[in-house]
Amino acid sequence: MREKTSREDTQGHACFCFLTQSFLVPRMLCLLLALRALVLGLAGAIEIQVPDEPVVALFGRDATLHCSFSPEANFSLDDLSLIWQLTDTKRLVHSFSGGQDQLEDQGGGYANRTALFYDQLAQGNVSLLLRRVEISDEGSFTCFVRVQDHNSAAVTLQVAAPYSKPHMNLEPNKHLKPGDLAAVTCHASRGYPEANVLWQDSQGSNITENITTSQVANEEGLFDVHSVLQVLVEPSSTYSCLVRNPVLQQETQASVTITGQHLAFPAVALWVTVGLAICVVVLLIVLAYVCQKKIRQSCEEEEENAGTEEQDEEGGEPKTALQPLKSTESKEDNEQEIV
Ligand SMILES: *[C@@H]1O[C@H](CO)[C@@H](O)[C@H](O)[C@H]1NC(C)=O
Ligand SMILES: *[C@@H]1O[C@H](CO)[C@@H](O)[C@H](O)[C@H]1NC(C)=O
Ligand SMILES: *[C@@H]1O[C@H](CO)[C@@H](O)[C@H](O)[C@H]1NC(C)=O
Ligand SMILES: *[C@@H]1O[C@H](CO)[C@@H](O)[C@H](O)[C@H]1NC(C)=O
Ligand SMILES: *[C@@H]1O[C@H](CO)[C@@H](O)[C@H](O)[C@H]1NC(C)=O
Repeated sequence: MREKTSREDTQGHACFCFLTQSFLVPRMLCLLLALRALVLGLAGAIEIQVPDEPVVALFGRDATLHCSFSPEANFSLDDLSLIWQLTDTKRLVHSFSGGQDQLEDQGGGYANRTALFYDQLAQGNVSLLLRRVEISDEGSFTCFVRVQDHNSAAVTLQVAAPYSKPHMNLEPNKHLKPGDLAAVTCHASRGYPEANVLWQDSQGSNITENITTSQVANEEGLFDVHSVLQVLVEPSSTYSCLVRNPVLQQETQASVTITGQHLAFPAVALWVTVGLAICVVVLLIVLAYVCQKKIRQSCEEEEENAGTEEQDEEGGEPKTALQPLKSTESKEDNEQEIV
């Protein structure tokens, strides 16, 4: 919808009033209506058109605040007075009268950042070009126009900046064992306005618990988003962080997967394990060889003696030698589960 004035209606009422007046009270009412019509007739006659939706401008880019009216056929630019000001503070953003810009009283932050579309002024196009939009520009601007009559209308500026793709971090990222508590960190920067942060697991389900999100504005007013998810480590699980800009409907995301790599042993431990395994294998081979030899020997002796001599020594030796081997094997099994 466009903003309009309603002079015709009010004047109509007033005329009708004077024609039908007969009693004292209606007469006073008519007088009031007539006064109102007179005031409104002097002011607010021009029909000004502005967008009713907020204008979304990207941070650092140029924005156009649209405002226009339909000039009379005999309209001359010299008759036009135009003022763009902040609706709340009345701070002057741009002004034009007597056929040229009048920028002596322009607000500090707007120097060299404003312009009109001068070639279109004669057609009643009094839109404002605002360059290098800043976060502090966000808000309502009033477009005030006077030719013979005057009127004004407000345009709302909404500033937005897209968020960077998040950086993800896993803390700690070494020596992780299943069941450990880990922190997954998500960091996206330089967006505006504040983001909606969403975490999802491997199945794409929303995670709502154990999340801490903070949004801090830098000196330019842009937000840095930090979100931390606390999880109990499970192998092969993926955590995604989605950062959404509610104004731009922009969504950027990143994910981290906790795999064997994060859970792996440090290099030193790995080599110690491999070394141990080789030792054990060598030991096994030696043992097998010795056993075989001893068994053969004892067989020969048995044949010779056909005696009753028990062979506890030989029987005991492989048993005790196998003991460390067994425990090492089971240890390796554990490691594989973790890796
Ligand atoms: C332009 O014409 C209108 C009537 O159409 C008249 O009221 C107004 O005074 C004129 N303006 C100028 C500047 O001549
Ligand atoms: C605006 O531009 C003029 C001329 O280029 C320059 O002298 C002035 O310093 C500028 N002002 C600001 C606030 O940048
Ligand atoms: C006014 O000028 C601007 C810039 O050229 C343009 O984008 C806009 O459509 C114009 N508005 C009207 C009502 O002509
Ligand atoms: C996750 O949450 C968002 C926002 O709260 C919602 O739009 C979306 O539908 C949810 N997704 C699932 C799979 O529940
Ligand atoms: C949140 O963390 C607590 C321990 O800090 C844990 O017991 C709980 O299971 C976690 N919740 C979820 C949904 O992971």
